[in-house]
Amino acid sequence: MKPLDGRTVLLTGATGTLGRSIADAYARAGARLLLSARHDAPLQGLAGELSARYSTEVAVHPCDLSDAADIRRLPDEARRLFDRLDVLVNAAAVLGPVGPLWEVDWAEWTRAIDINLCAPARLCQLCVRSMPRSAGRGKIINVAGGGATSPRPRFSAYAAAKAALVRFSETLAHEVADRSVDVNCIAPGVLRSRMSQAVLDAGPERAGPEEHGKAERVLKEAADGRLRAAELCAFLASDASDGITGKLISAIWDPWESFGEHRADLGATDVYTIRRILPEDRALSWRGL
Ligand SMILES: NC(=O)c1ccc[n+]([C@@H]2O[C@H](COP(=O)([O-])OP(=O)(O)OC[C@H]3O[C@@H](n4cnc5c(N)ncnc54)[C@H](OP(=O)(O)O)[C@@H]3O)[C@@H](O)[C@H]2O)c1
Repeated sequence: MKPLDGRTVLLTGATGTLGRSIADAYARAGARLLLSARHDAPLQGLAGELSARYSTEVAVHPCDLSDAADIRRLPDEARRLFDRLDVLVNAAAVLGPVGPLWEVDWAEWTRAIDINLCAPARLCQLCVRSMPRSAGRGKIINVAGGGATSPRPRFSAYAAAKAALVRFSETLAHEVADRSVDVNCIAPGVLRSRMSQAVLDAGPERAGPEEHGKAERVLKEAADGRLRAAELCAFLASDASDGITGKLISAIWDPWESFGEHRADLGATDVYTIRRILPEDRALSWRGL
């Protein structure tokens, strides 16, 4: 018995660097998959590879997440293929415009918010209705990172969307608590991907020297954290993570393999969430003597 045997998954951004690793990890774990991205040919190629390698059902449905009607058709397709939807993974994203706010194109800015925040939220809305209320918990995994927990100057659309995606996910986790659905965000760490290449292509003047240097370094490195991020996504889709919800989990820094032992503390506290920092948290005392 594999950990995701019989589970059905809708994965966006399936042909991206991280998406491919997640799709591979899920197919290996026995899940039936509906893969999505805009371009059909890479989707078909990936589905062919995975179904041949793992003998599992892998279907594809191209969809542009900047198009509201297209988004609507995606869960419809999942419903047509599968009798129920167990797991939604929102991995698709765009970097959006790079540069200080006053210099970037506003249409590009709002498009990044649409694709990185509104589209995953809409898919959550549409999919949560199809998630099972018996026979296992529903699972939603939203891919955040890259500006969700700290400022990311010159990437304001991307950072704002990812921070909002984290707050949205924690909020939704509370709303669906009695529907047997777990909702979490992951931070995969910097990846050797098209997105890092786009930072490099923007140049040090637009991206800033620090971001540009980081992209240059990661693109030269032999490996990145994509496999660990995919394993985290597999863990969050499995029964082993049941009841762990409303968290932002770093694939590379957090000891998520042992979360099962800390389920009660995870549920009772705000660890792995974004909160306001008080002076006391920084050893400052401003409340008078
Ligand atoms: N790269 C990093 O260093 C990094 C760090 C932290 C977090 N992340 C997050 O990790 C996730 C994956 O990143 P990645 O680096 O693997 O990205 P990537 O390689 O650039 O892949 C992006 C994926 O999204 C799809 N996509 C792009 N625009 C779309 C649209 N309008 N509609 C539908 N699909 C669209 C792409 O396929 P098509 O082009 O065919 O549509 C592709 O499958 C993202 O959520 C990203 O924000 C990345």
